[in-house]
Amino acid sequence: MERLQKVIAQAGVASRRKAEELIASGKVKVNGQVVLELGTKVKPSDQIEVNGIPLEKEEPVYFLFYKPRGVISSVKDDKGRKVVTDFFPELKERIFPVGRLDYDTSGILLMTNDGEFTNQMTHPRYHIPKTYIAKVKGIPSKTEIAQLQKGVKLEDGMTAPAKVKMLSFDKRKNSSILELTIHEGKNRQVRRMFEAIGHPVLKLKRERFAFLTLDDLSPGDSRELTPHEVKQLRNLIQNG
Ligand code: URA
Repeated sequence: MERLQKVIAQAGVASRRKAEELIASGKVKVNGQVVLELGTKVKPSDQIEVNGIPLEKEEPVYFLFYKPRGVISSVKDDKGRKVVTDFFPELKERIFPVGRLDYDTSGILLMTNDGEFTNQMTHPRYHIPKTYIAKVKGIPSKTEIAQLQKGVKLEDGMTAPAKVKMLSFDKRKNSSILELTIHEGKNRQVRRMFEAIGHPVLKLKRERFAFLTLDDLSPGDSRELTPHEVKQLRNLIQNG
């Protein structure tokens, strides 16, 4: 027996949180009956419908995607802008992004139809490190860099300690390139951190997600994660 929201999430229909919303709003039926109770347990033989469509079990799939700039981290966009799933036109599984990168941020983004995995990878409790390369305006001083390392005050609270390294700077162009590793995922966190020290981000790319890198992928490319990589990611959760 499994909880209904978990089964829906694992079928790739929605994240677990979205699945809970679907249940609470009466969109889910089990054996023909609307179920509103979030903790409801179901067995494999139960017939589940979401929005009138029978749930089909999908095999979980996991991809590493190099998100280009100018793409929304979503499965659809009301304004008709390009979304990350547009890059998987042949795929029959209903995948969604694991967390988000801003429209203007490029770099590594995991994609899957496994809602449970998504919840685990994005939960701040598990401290998954994410490394960014940021081109910023001006040249941050040692003191400003130390501020980022210690934590800066944003409107939704202090940021946790971060690893920060100056990679290069250009006095003539008045810009610098820094590497920053964080394990939180506040909205637009990297951009807001640099803004907080007076050096707005000009360009942002995520280079690493845990131990995964972009290798030799180009923007728009993707590859499947190996079963071993998926296992290693799950191990981070168990040990986290
Ligand atoms: N921080 C940001 O500011 N933007 C991203 O896309 C990711 C992290």
